[in-house]
Amino acid sequence: PRKPIIAIDGPAGAGKSTVTRAFAKHLGLIYLDTGAMYRALTWWIHYKGIDSNDEDLIKPLLNNLDLRLFLEDDYKQQVWINGHTVTEVIRSPQITADVSLVATHRSVRDALTLQQKKVGRQGGLVAEGRDIGTAVFPYADLKIFLTATSRERAQRRANDLRAQGFDDCDLYELEKQIIERDNIDYSRAIAPLRQSSDAIVIITDKLSCQQVVQVLVNVFQDQF
Ligand code: C5P
Repeated sequence: PRKPIIAIDGPAGAGKSTVTRAFAKHLGLIYLDTGAMYRALTWWIHYKGIDSNDEDLIKPLLNNLDLRLFLEDDYKQQVWINGHTVTEVIRSPQITADVSLVATHRSVRDALTLQQKKVGRQGGLVAEGRDIGTAVFPYADLKIFLTATSRERAQRRANDLRAQGFDDCDLYELEKQIIERDNIDYSRAIAPLRQSSDAIVIITDKLSCQQVVQVLVNVFQDQF
């Protein structure tokens, strides 16, 4: 039988990345962080000095895009775009502030979704994003929707940013930005952030990463 495909979706800062990575490692499956692909493209658009609103100027960039993802031994996903290593820089506030706009363009979504589907062709992966269970792998074997209150998500983002050396984070400002990004992701015309009707919803407030992973492992074992 084909190895399983597991889709993990949810709004910004719900703990998807940490949880998905640990869960994939536990199951010995590939881990795919699709947000990193939208972030890397956003970095490239900035690098080229192009306006993120201008889909006509972005389209030609998609034709010869060399976007590569590597999983290291520790399951950290390394990201390269057109020969540049961007793993760290794509987490910067400048990219975070602009990525959801880039992700609204149909041509962008078509190109990145296609690449994601190719990664999943053999199965055996846990993919996280916004539209994995609805658009990328609608036939996933297990769909999870991870969410938490915006306050909790802002608090986690602040902790992440501090750990990465971005010290000047204002919790209220972060929460505002998270809500703005959610609004763009929920309201875009193409593949908006949605809870798939067959997804299992997990609200992660007050749960540690380990606890969420344990819930996922239990759900997985129940189903397989
Ligand atoms: O998960 P992360 O916060 O890194 O995602 C960054 C942004 O990329 C999201 O806010 C969303 O706009 C976009 N994205 C998307 N579809 C995905 C993954 C991410 O539109 N599957």
